[in-house]
Order: sequence, then C-alpha cells, then structure tokens
Amino acid sequence: MPTDFHHDIPKDAKIYIAGHSGLAGSAIWRAFEAEGYRNLVGRRSAELDLMDRAATYDFLSQERPDYLIAAAAKVGGIYGNAAANADFLSDNLRIQLNLLDGAREFGVTRAVFLGSSCIYPKFAPQPIREDSLMTGPLEPSNFGYAIAKIAGVYHVQALREQYGCSFVSAMPTNLYGPGDNFALPGAHAFPMLLRRLHDAKVAGDEEFVVYGTGTTMREFLHADDLGRAVLTLLRRYDGPEPVNVGFGEDIVINDLVALMAKVVGYEGRIGHDLSKIDGTPRKLMDSGRIRSLGWEPRIGLAEGVTSTYEWFLANQETFRR
Ligand SMILES: NC(=O)c1ccc[n+]([C@@H]2O[C@H](COP(=O)([O-])OP(=O)(O)OC[C@H]3O[C@@H](n4cnc5c(N)ncnc54)[C@H](OP(=O)(O)O)[C@@H]3O)[C@@H](O)[C@H]2O)c1
Repeated sequence: MPTDFHHDIPKDAKIYIAGHSGLAGSAIWRAFEAEGYRNLVGRRSAELDLMDRAATYDFLSQERPDYLIAAAAKVGGIYGNAAANADFLSDNLRIQLNLLDGAREFGVTRAVFLGSSCIYPKFAPQPIREDSLMTGPLEPSNFGYAIAKIAGVYHVQALREQYGCSFVSAMPTNLYGPGDNFALPGAHAFPMLLRRLHDAKVAGDEEFVVYGTGTTMREFLHADDLGRAVLTLLRRYDGPEPVNVGFGEDIVINDLVALMAKVVGYEGRIGHDLSKIDGTPRKLMDSGRIRSLGWEPRIGLAEGVTSTYEWFLANQETFRR
C-alpha cells in the first residue's frame, strides 16, 4: 500500500460528523477538537433524519461541508441484530446512500465511511486482512447490517472510480468508551456485560450469567483511539481498499467478564446460559495497514474498562438505557 500520501486538513475546514452524538461520532468530534478544529457540524437524528434523502440534501446544500465523517448508523449487538435484520439492512443502506451520494453531489473534499469488522466472512483467516472481504459466507445473525456495510465499501469504491471522489472506508473493530449504548436488550457485548455486572452487584446477585459459552474471542478498541485513526486516514490514506482499525489483541469473553467484575466490584459466581448464541468464534483484525501510516492505539483494555465504568457511574441519569 502506498504510504506517501499526505493531505493537510485546514484548521478552518467545515467538518460534518454524521452521528456526532454516538459512541464513535462523539469520539471523532473530540479528536478533531483536540487538534484545534473548531468548525465542526453535527445534527441529532431528531433534527435531521438521514434516511430522508430530500432533508439530507437540503442540509448538505446549505452547510456545504468540506469533510464528511459518516459515523451515523443503526447499530446494535448480536441479539438486537438477529431480531431485526431487515431494519438494520434497510435503515443503514438509506443513511449511507444519502450521505455518500450527497457528499459527491455537494462537493465534499474528503470523506470517511465507517463500516465494521462484521463485513468479513465468519471463518476468515485470523487476523483478518482487508482482502478477506467477499471471500466466504457471513455470520448469519447480523447479515442485514453486514450487507449494508459491504455495500457502503463498494459505494465508496464506485464513487472514487466513476467520479474521482477522494473518499475512503474504515473498518473499526468492536468499540467501547464514554457515550456507549447501555440499553438492554440489544446492546453490544461490552456495554451489555458492564451494565449487567453493575446491576448484579447493586442487586447483590449470587450468580452472574454470561450469555453463551463465553469462549469466543473478541477485539475491543477504545473509541478515542478510533477518533485519532479517522484523522490519520484523512491525512495519510487515499485508496479504494477499506482500512481495518483494531486494537491488535483480542480477549476471551470470560476473561473480559473477569476483568470487568474486578473493576465493578462484583464478587458473585459466574455462570453461563448455553441456550444463547455465541456468534463468530474469533474476530481479530489485521491492522497493519493503518499502523504503517503511523497510527497505533493508546488506551489499553484494563485502563479503558476502568474509565468507561467511571463514565457510566458519573452519567447514571443520562446514559442510553
Ligand atoms: N459500536 C461499535 O462497536 C462499532 C464497531 C465498528 C464500527 N462501528 C461503526 O461506527 C458507526 C457509529 O456507531 P456507534 O457505535 O457510534 O453507534 P451509536 O452510538 O448508536 O450512534 C449512532 C449515531 O448515529 C445517529 N443516527 C442513527 N440513525 C440516524 C438517522 N436516521 N438520522 C441521523 N442520525 C442517525 C445517532 O444519532 P441520534 O443519537 O441523534 O439518534 C447517533 O449519533 C457505525 O457506522 C458503526 O458501523 C461501531
């Protein structure tokens, strides 16, 4: 991969972060702010429904952003996805089509489309490289979300090819951090486990039940590390292939539960509900491509679990439940 691309993002550039209120988008916002960017634009879905093409085009034609970060999506955990594949497919296709087509139509200079590691085949060789895309069947539980995100990667490639748009795709691994969605059921594994362990501790439960065997392995990246990765990609990458953004190590879910239990202070037994599905056995990404551009994660898992739990405790009234 060529590593000699360099692009300066002017400090007064107008940067539209679609999904700025979410886990990923809020971290991306913080990353831009930390580097002195002040002309940041965001809209909640109640103000601008990105599934509405006319409304999205009106907004883009008025705001004329220089940069777009497409971090708005309908997002959920394995159980939420499995129950609503049609909605995850349809909503996400519409959101990303409107954003990417609109970015082309209204002259956005550079854009980053956020996909996800679930675009890769269920049994892709580990660690998963970007060229595993479309080489095998998907994990069936979240195929709606995955197909939409795969379409997004190809949409970016087609816009580059046909219209010369300088847009790129980033594939983050599982994210966590402040502002995560702790709503049960339907949350991702990380916030779901943290919230349920907290609730078990508060209720004085003697046993905490992990859904499934807990033997699957997952990679987790703090959202603030993704925020810095997005800046790296805007400045250093201009290619059609998606770029993985991962932590570089994974952890067995049972070990994550043990780490979280220690941080939360839950001292009961750990059991398992084997009637629940496990999902893909392992999903560690090869993030060599973005590392070759000078990015690496800075927040370790123990530190990240602790700070996220502190955020959770401090935001009891406002977090998404
Ligand atoms: N979380 C992860 O583990 C993870 C992993 C890999 C990739 N990603 C990617 O990161 C992106 C964001 O995920 P996230 O975890 O940050 O999700 P999130 O916390 O649930 O945030 C979703 C964001 O999208 C916005 N949104 C949703 N539907 C919208 C609509 N119809 N119109 C306008 N805005 C809408 C939400 O706005 P409101 O709050 O105003 O509704 C919110 O800002 C997604 O593309 C996802 O694929 C996430």
